[in-house]
Amino acid sequence: MSFPIDRPRRLRRTESLRTLVRETHLKPSDFMLPLFAVSGRGVRRPIGSMPGVAQLSVDLIVEEARTAFKAGVRSLILFGIPDKKDAEGTSAWDPNGPVCTGFKALKDALPEMVLVADVCMCEYTDHGHCGPLERDARGHVAVANDKTLPLLAKAAVAYAQAGADIVAPSDMMDGRVAAIRRALDEHGLSETALLSYAVKYASGFYGPFREAADSAPREGPKDRKAYQMDPANVREARREALLDIAEGADMIMVKPALAYLDVINEVKRLTDLPIAAYNVSGEYAMLKAAAQQGWIDEKRVGLEILTGIKRAGADIILTYSAVDAARWLQDQA
Ligand code: PBG
Repeated sequence: MSFPIDRPRRLRRTESLRTLVRETHLKPSDFMLPLFAVSGRGVRRPIGSMPGVAQLSVDLIVEEARTAFKAGVRSLILFGIPDKKDAEGTSAWDPNGPVCTGFKALKDALPEMVLVADVCMCEYTDHGHCGPLERDARGHVAVANDKTLPLLAKAAVAYAQAGADIVAPSDMMDGRVAAIRRALDEHGLSETALLSYAVKYASGFYGPFREAADSAPREGPKDRKAYQMDPANVREARREALLDIAEGADMIMVKPALAYLDVINEVKRLTDLPIAAYNVSGEYAMLKAAAQQGWIDEKRVGLEILTGIKRAGADIILTYSAVDAARWLQDQA
């Protein structure tokens, strides 16, 4: 059957018809809001390359989380910026640091909010890498994979004890999902879920985040290509996802999102676990910058991007636009 009998335009004629046949529906609870926690009170340090995003002290984190919850957002992920950094990143598991105190305050204020902890050493090490550096047998300086595992496990346990419902390792060390799962279980935290950044690419789209989290590599290798994935690879994404599933991940993340929609789809078809996708800082910065110039309509393009990520297969979308997008959706309803 074809034209003139088949006319797809019939179902596009009115908004109600379009709604009737719509295949993908975004909702505020699809979004996870990333927040950057610092010590102090009443501290708000805006991030230049991410308009609308700021480093916040715990009191303001709680306020921001309340606003998000009211808009329908049901999960947030915390990143910590410590007061002091060292070669090992020991502030990562500080029970008095901004992340642990943040989770305690959030659990009290908003018991229904799902609290997620990003687990990585790069905000806590003075050199900015995702684990301690060592000179390998051939004289190359690299992140020490196996020495990083117990550090990640220690941080994950501290966050879970402080109230995180989910821990999310983003470091890309081999074996970290198993190491974290074992440590959680040994500490009586078998109920804490594990969202693995299983498929994380070495991406230029993280640029603004490294300003936000003060986590750019400063010593040793100039980039993270020796542990994060090559943007050209998709079969390797299957391999990474399968390994983390075997090690005990409850959810799998693909990151970044926009240039990797095919990867999201590939992982979606590989597993029945929930899939998260990270609409990262550089994607947000591009949207904001073009909108500020008046070159694109932020709301329209923002929702189109999020719809695309969901259509590709994401069940959960980490996005700095979470609160705005939740409101845009309410305006439409
Ligand atoms: C930590 C981490 C990064 C992001 C999330 N967790 C940065 C990196 O790997 O360099 C990036 C998030 C974003 O760009 O929005 N390893």
